[in-house]
Amino acid sequence: MIDLDETDHATHLGVFAQDDEPWGVSLKRHAGVLVGVCSLFDQPCIRCKVPWEDHEALRLRVMGTLPEVRGLGAGAALIAGASDEVLRRGKTVLWCDAREVAFGFYERLGFDFMNEVYELPDVGPHRTMALVLSSPRN
Ligand SMILES: CC(C)(COP(=O)(O)OP(=O)(O)OC[C@H]1O[C@@H](n2cnc3c(N)ncnc32)[C@H](O)[C@@H]1OP(=O)(O)O)[C@@H](O)C(=O)NCCC(=O)NCCS
Repeated sequence: MIDLDETDHATHLGVFAQDDEPWGVSLKRHAGVLVGVCSLFDQPCIRCKVPWEDHEALRLRVMGTLPEVRGLGAGAALIAGASDEVLRRGKTVLWCDAREVAFGFYERLGFDFMNEVYELPDVGPHRTMALVLSSPRN
């Protein structure tokens, strides 16, 4: 939970395990279980200067998947859903303050680094990362 969860501009996404996963893995043990979440907010980036207007972007927050399903595509499914929501709302950028342990994940999914490493108190090293979506996904 974060302070913005119930604001009008918040969008919460979840990914549920099924017997026959659309991304081609079997998660029978977790069928019907919520295995990952993320949230989207209309928030401007305050960490660094960015090459987009505030109204063009959504911020990705509280992104996570259950440890037992990591590496099976649930995170990628959430980013795909988040990207669809960005485009549905007439925007083109999805950005986040990425934790160091997740840099590789976001890079794998096409995000670029927007700044150098900075420290968030009690949370650790982060970098701002952004995915620019110029056209609807296929
Ligand atoms: C980061 C996180 C969301 C990734 O979720 P996931 O369900 O494992 O992601 P996926 O299985 O969809 O991975 C998509 C691709 O990224 C790769 N990947 C996943 N995590 C990675 C990492 N930490 N470093 C490098 N690559 C990674 C996967 O191998 C996969 O690659 P492939 O397409 O070649 O198979 C998950 O590890 C997590 O919840 N971590 C703890 C919370 C956290 O750090 N959240 C991010 C906060 S900014």
